Amino acid sequence: MPKRGCTIWFTGLSGSGKSTVATGLVEALRVREVTKVEVLDGDVVRTNLSKGLGFSREDRDTNILRIGFVCELLARNGVVAIAAAISPYRSTRDAVRKQIGDGFIEVFVEAPLEVCIERDVKGLYEKALKEEIPQFTGVSDPYEPPLNPELILQTDRETVDVSVTKLLRVMELLDILPEGAPLLEAHEDEAVHAQLVAAGRLASRAEATQREKGS
Ligand code: ADX
Repeated sequence: MPKRGCTIWFTGLSGSGKSTVATGLVEALRVREVTKVEVLDGDVVRTNLSKGLGFSREDRDTNILRIGFVCELLARNGVVAIAAAISPYRSTRDAVRKQIGDGFIEVFVEAPLEVCIERDVKGLYEKALKEEIPQFTGVSDPYEPPLNPELILQTDRETVDVSVTKLLRVMELLDILPEGAPLLEAHEDEAVHAQLVAAGRLASRAEATQREKGS
């Protein structure tokens, strides 16, 4: 069981790997016997809860705030809620962060646009580039990357396994999962820790040592 519920919020371009990493995380949590997990995937949510919404700023914001609302309810009940939607607007993500509080963990799934275009898993970039789909994120609509996410995953440079292991480590460091055996290489562990310090979620190791000495 997780020690407490939380919201893992993946943001990134279409084809950056949000759903793939989310699926990997669910699997890894199951191995750790964390079964209270739900995924809210943009593509899926848009077939039910957000059915009928389009891709104007207003509709995207409505979609994101709905997903945030459901995540909050789930997390409040001890669930690990995982959101995987482009969520292109910084201020809207920040609104969800404010609503949810410290259970909100923002994960920037970063893959260069050229890589997403090359992958073109759903064949949508080809259409967007031919202007057959309007307002396509990254092509003809904005994407605002997070400034201080809890974690950045460079999916063009690391395996899904490594991304998932980093996520588990973040969950340990934020006291959502109990500490497991160390799985990351030392430099990767250091980078994950440093990112959480930069996001204002952890004291730096130097500060923590200083504090221990003082007490
Ligand atoms: S969000 O902007 O509201 O967060 P969401 O993640 O729910 O987007 O949906 C994005 C998915 O819708 C994409 O992965 C893609 O499959 C599809 N899609 C269709 N039209 C667009 C568009 N104009 N821009 C982005 N994604 C689109």
